[in-house]
Amino acid sequence: MVAQRTWRWVGLIIGIIIVLIALGILFIYSGIYSVAANYPDSAPSAWVLSTTMERSVRYHAEGIKIPNLNNPKMVQAGFEHYQEDCVMCHGAPGVKVGEVSRGLNPAPPELTEVANDWKPNELFWITRNGIRMTGMPAWGVVDSDKEIWRTVAFMQKLPSMTPSEYKKLDHQAPQPEEP
Ligand code: HEC
Repeated sequence: MVAQRTWRWVGLIIGIIIVLIALGILFIYSGIYSVAANYPDSAPSAWVLSTTMERSVRYHAEGIKIPNLNNPKMVQAGFEHYQEDCVMCHGAPGVKVGEVSRGLNPAPPELTEVANDWKPNELFWITRNGIRMTGMPAWGVVDSDKEIWRTVAFMQKLPSMTPSEYKKLDHQAPQPEEP
């Protein structure tokens, strides 16, 4: 008697799971869900995505050994890399983000405001590996770890850097030769 009742419950639960899976597949194939980048995320899905990203970065970056980053030459080299590959999306002191950044979802944050939220090993992990399903590329595909650490050394200085200090780094950079 008891066993029969238990099996009835098991059957009901399996039935509900099958119906839910079928509804999920129907939802995907219906095309109702909008993948448009200009369609804002709901508050719960924005929370799920940003919390997953933050926890994942902190977990995976643990144990990465941080080299000595207090070296003006490293900061200068990191600035040059940042100017070339990052400023158009993340801006800089006195420099607004470029057009490509304005249509991205999630929007790339201004690193002058958020770089201090991350430890150096976490900045390194994000830059090297990128963030899937966002516009943040994995720079480790094209840059060596040494280059990425230089960019980290520079990013750490961003929150306390004034626009004129940023400009000064530009004047110290080697200028491209005239053709
Ligand atoms: C095409 C645009 C684009 C470029 C170029 C780009 N990023 Fe990003 N980056 C993003 C986006 C989008 C995010 C936000 C991802 C998210 O919210 O999960 C991001 C996030 C980050 C973060 C985490 C910040 C935070 O608090 O969310 C860091 C650090 C970062 N990028 C560093 C860099 C560096 C260093 C470079 C250059 C070597 C670079 N990015 C180039 C789009 C870009």
